[in-house]
Amino acid sequence: MKLKNRLIISFFIITIAPVLIFTILVQALKSIVMQKAINERMLNLFSKYFDESGEFNELVVNFCFAGLVILMLTAIIMIVWIYRGVAPQLKTLKLAAYNIKEGNLDFSVASSGKDEMSEVCNAFEDMRIRLKNNAKDRLDDEAEQRALISNIAHDLKTPITAIKGYAEGMLDGVADTPEKRDKYVRTIYNKANEMNTLINELTLYSNIDTNKIPYNFQKLNLHAYFADCIEELGMDLENQHIRLDYSNFVDPDVLIIADPEQLGRIIHNIISNSVKYMRADVPSKIEISIKDVGDFVQIEISDNGRGIATHDLPYVFDRFYRADASRNSAAGGSGIGLSIVKKIIEDHGGKIWVTSKENEGTTMCFVIRKYQESPIV
Ligand SMILES: Nc1ncnc2c1ncn2[C@@H]1O[C@H](COP(=O)(O)OP(=O)(O)OP(=O)(O)O)[C@@H](O)[C@H]1O
Ligand SMILES: [Mg+2]
Repeated sequence: MKLKNRLIISFFIITIAPVLIFTILVQALKSIVMQKAINERMLNLFSKYFDESGEFNELVVNFCFAGLVILMLTAIIMIVWIYRGVAPQLKTLKLAAYNIKEGNLDFSVASSGKDEMSEVCNAFEDMRIRLKNNAKDRLDDEAEQRALISNIAHDLKTPITAIKGYAEGMLDGVADTPEKRDKYVRTIYNKANEMNTLINELTLYSNIDTNKIPYNFQKLNLHAYFADCIEELGMDLENQHIRLDYSNFVDPDVLIIADPEQLGRIIHNIISNSVKYMRADVPSKIEISIKDVGDFVQIEISDNGRGIATHDLPYVFDRFYRADASRNSAAGGSGIGLSIVKKIIEDHGGKIWVTSKENEGTTMCFVIRKYQESPIV
């Protein structure tokens, strides 16, 4: 039943019910008085309300009429008051529900009132905002997926075109000397490796995103771990004519809790960015420095490469974000390296941040928690 109908019925019940009850009582009283069925004292008390013919006197009739009018007025005021307090918000909610049904989430039903209807409106408003955010996240995700597919298609297409070209060259007999054949096969091999790396990265990314990576956390001696790491990196970078400086200011017996393989992945990813985004006009240099910052160790990896523009800095850890947006840029990549790094560091209970200046260089800093023996009580 509609609220309006309910209130009209309430109005009649409020006004008619007392009138009926009153009439019945009065009739009963009248017949009692007429039949003189009560004692003398009571009879004297009630008889002043009746005239000689046994009907109610004028004063009583007027009094009843005035009572009825007051009752009706009060009922009307109350019903209008209740209706006006509820109806506009109900109307807003009805419109809001209709809008949501139609897929329109750009409206507001927020209310500043303190009554129950305002609470319902505010709860509805919260629901609308949540729905809107979900819809936006879904659209963003879809856009990201589309970007990923087009990036993967592009990144896979480049080595495939090369592999196809060199394989055709060999089939057509263009590689007619053992040296040429060797060169062609080597290029095909390198391009296949590139594709393999990309596919591995994507698989890793999707595993990381769905928390499928089983971490193998261990107690690691920071000095020993980085000594090995630097030895390996040093050789690699030396071959590419990049200088590597390393300084470790942490106590030699400090332990950290980390997955050695994933920690290696973090360092490898950051260093590979430093290498990829080097400048050609200055001798390349990478610096790794490790500091003690209380409960954590802070690892800083700096380069003197091309740097990141200030407006790109907040986004470099976002998946698929590439500051150098052009997919044709010489430095290939999918823009997922740093998002993997961030996720692994956060899974280790640490955090990562970056500082950079264009044409001067970039510093990636991250912290990893130290291992601490729980105190013996
Ligand atoms: N050391 C750096 N110097 C300059 N720019 C950097 C550096 N590290 C990251 N960037 C910028 O941040 C972006 C995101 O880096 P990220 O490692 O996530 O992706 P990518 O290197 O482009 O691709 P991928 O790592 O997936 O191969 C890069 O595209 C690059 O523009
Ligand atoms: Mg990268």
